[in-house]
Amino acid sequence: MDCDKRIEYIKSEVKRTLQHAECGHDYSHALRVMRNAELIAQSEGGDVVTIQAAALLHDVSDEKFSNGNTVIGLKLTENILKKAKFKSAEIAKIIDIIKNISYKGGFNVNGVPSIECAIVQDADRLDAIGAIGVARAFHYGGYKNRELYNPEIEPQDFENAEEYRNSNGPTINHFYEKLLKLKYLMNTPTAKVLAEPRHKFLEQFLDEFMKEWRNE
Ligand code: ADP
Ligand code: NI
Repeated sequence: MDCDKRIEYIKSEVKRTLQHAECGHDYSHALRVMRNAELIAQSEGGDVVTIQAAALLHDVSDEKFSNGNTVIGLKLTENILKKAKFKSAEIAKIIDIIKNISYKGGFNVNGVPSIECAIVQDADRLDAIGAIGVARAFHYGGYKNRELYNPEIEPQDFENAEEYRNSNGPTINHFYEKLLKLKYLMNTPTAKVLAEPRHKFLEQFLDEFMKEWRNE
């Protein structure tokens, strides 16, 4: 298969696999992450097909949707790559990227193994901020039946990834616990620039939300 065919095949498989996924992590998220990643790669380099494949597949194996089990999802990811005719060394590299991009409350301490991983991680994080980030956060909060906001519950400093994952805090707290930190955690200079207006939008949104909450 040529490069385009391989990516087209992965797209169709991801679309099928994620058809019942929570909307914040569905096929459209995978596509947005791929486009963000392509944009970053234009100035930061990296192997484009590896980046596209990892971006499309990065949430197929997400442990938060399989009760902490990453093995099933990674096997599925590997099978899709095999069917798309990627060589075993290429598959290993893509799986390595996927294993290392997750935020996990900031407790994913391995660092990024390659420029391709750095780029896909940045691309995923860009989709967590800005207007789409706001929409995704409240959608996820609704999916988990979380409160929008509760001034009596302070944002938390989590001690480990499990604590972060199991938190039942209001969705507004997630902005302070994760989303507002992402701008500072971007790996590449290009993503840092792209994060700037999206970060500002989060701040404006919170400002307006608090004003309306207090009836100002
Ligand atoms: P990763 O999948 O990279 O480990 P997370 O699971 O922390 O990252 O979050 C992915 C996205 O899911 C977030 O950017 C956000 O949109 C949504 N999300 C996760 N946890 C929460 C939460 N507690 N409240 C609201 N949204 C959340
Ligand atoms: Ni993602």
